[in-house]
Amino acid sequence: MERLDKRLASSGRWSRAEARALIRAGRATVDGAVCRAPEQKVDDAAAVTVDGAPVEAGPVYLMLHKPAGVVSSTDDPREVTVLSLLPEEYQRRGLFPVGRLDKDAEGLLLLTDDGPLAHRLLSPKYHVDKVYYVETDGVLDGSDVSALEAGVVLGDGTVCLPARLEVLEGGRSAYITIQEGKYHQVKRMLASRGKPVVYLKRVAFGPLVLDQSLPKGGWRALNLPEIESLFRH
Ligand code: URA
Repeated sequence: MERLDKRLASSGRWSRAEARALIRAGRATVDGAVCRAPEQKVDDAAAVTVDGAPVEAGPVYLMLHKPAGVVSSTDDPREVTVLSLLPEEYQRRGLFPVGRLDKDAEGLLLLTDDGPLAHRLLSPKYHVDKVYYVETDGVLDGSDVSALEAGVVLGDGTVCLPARLEVLEGGRSAYITIQEGKYHQVKRMLASRGKPVVYLKRVAFGPLVLDQSLPKGGWRALNLPEIESLFRH
């Protein structure tokens, strides 16, 4: 059970003060009846509306096509953050990215306010595949495939779990699949092979595939099958 004003505010669409004002103005209903009491307790199953439109309870899951030049942190006074690409109602909601992409990297970023799910998706225990498309300065070959499969050792001695490398025609681009999320991991893995990354884009995260119709900087809510696939994973 939670207060009605809190339920409205946690949708991200109104601040707590705005929620209180609209409730007092008689714009909210609970299970079909107008409710003018912000402190009214409602449970998750209650049908809540504002101006006739339903206000769902529960977490939010968004897919963002991160462009280069923005940082994955939620709050940074000097940089443009991924959150600033979302509408204000979501910015207020306490969403955070599940794992980070470097400032110069692009691609699929999952944003949610579901802490337990995020924790599981990021834990190495759960072996969630992350697939990146990379372009390199230097030609990738079979020796890189074998080295990554065996688990490369980074410059600082860190040993990486085995990774899959699918070299594309010409050898200067590839898909790489890893299950960890160490700092600058893909760049450091390929730098250790003497083939520095010049372009990096995440194309898949577990069962989620970057929606090709999303422009850079574009986002959309995950659909139900996508959310279910994350939980099944
Ligand atoms: N590996 C990197 O080097 N950078 C990223 O942003 C993600 C994976």
